[in-house]
Amino acid sequence: MPTYLVMLGPPGAGKGTQAKILSRRLGLPHISSGDLFREHLRSETELGKAARSYIDNGNLVPDDVTIAMIQDRLECPDCADGAILDGFPRTPAQAAGLEEILQDLDEGVDTVLYIDVGDDILLTRLTGRLVCEAHGHIYHEEHRTPEEEGVCDIDGSPLIQREDDNEETVRNRIDVYWEQTSPLIEYYQERDLLVEVNGEQPVNEVTEDMLAAIRGVS
Ligand code: AP5
Repeated sequence: MPTYLVMLGPPGAGKGTQAKILSRRLGLPHISSGDLFREHLRSETELGKAARSYIDNGNLVPDDVTIAMIQDRLECPDCADGAILDGFPRTPAQAAGLEEILQDLDEGVDTVLYIDVGDDILLTRLTGRLVCEAHGHIYHEEHRTPEEEGVCDIDGSPLIQREDDNEETVRNRIDVYWEQTSPLIEYYQERDLLVEVNGEQPVNEVTEDMLAAIRGVS
């Protein structure tokens, strides 16, 4: 049976960090809507050009564009056993869109892992985050430093700061999360799919809590 996991939580909660670990541990592809948009920005596709102003300002890209992009990705052969969705869905309309996509496959969301972290911590995490240029491996200038400064331990590519990780944009992303995405907490609670994890613990403890939750419901 394919497994579909959703990572829910505010910007900087650790969705990408945990999704990459779970992807290796569970053998499921990691689908990050933010990474997909950034690939389109880099390749200057029409979708990338349309999404740029939303991303640069920390606002959400319109639902129809986003749902279509995720549907295309979920139809790729590597998703035959399921996927870990990171950053999608982010609005009730996107959640309904995902339900329809999975219903067409006779599937549904198995578990929503909601990572809870206070707003003050999110700001420090994001303004200090560094990501590798090649594959988006995630570091932090104080809490998760690479062995060689400015170089990714995994693939040797340069570490950069994401353009939307400046303080003004981060504050807007957090506001947008509370206004448009946080209703999904209740949406998935009502469907009995939500598991809340304390995201203020060390990374490995967050992972263990998630794995325990996934095993508990599978
Ligand atoms: P996206 O790329 O999805 O950004 P986000 O949701 O804002 O999430 P982040 O990637 O910033 O944070 P994260 O939770 O993954 O944290 P991370 O693991 O990196 O979206 C970017 C933009 O694209 C959006 O603003 C929007 O414009 C657009 N977009 C994307 N999806 C969309 C959608 N569905 N609909 C419409 N628009 C969409 O960790 C952060 C830092 O904390 C790192 O430095 C890490 O090392 C550190 N850290 C992580 N865990 C811990 C821990 N336990 N303890 C200490 N430090 C930790």
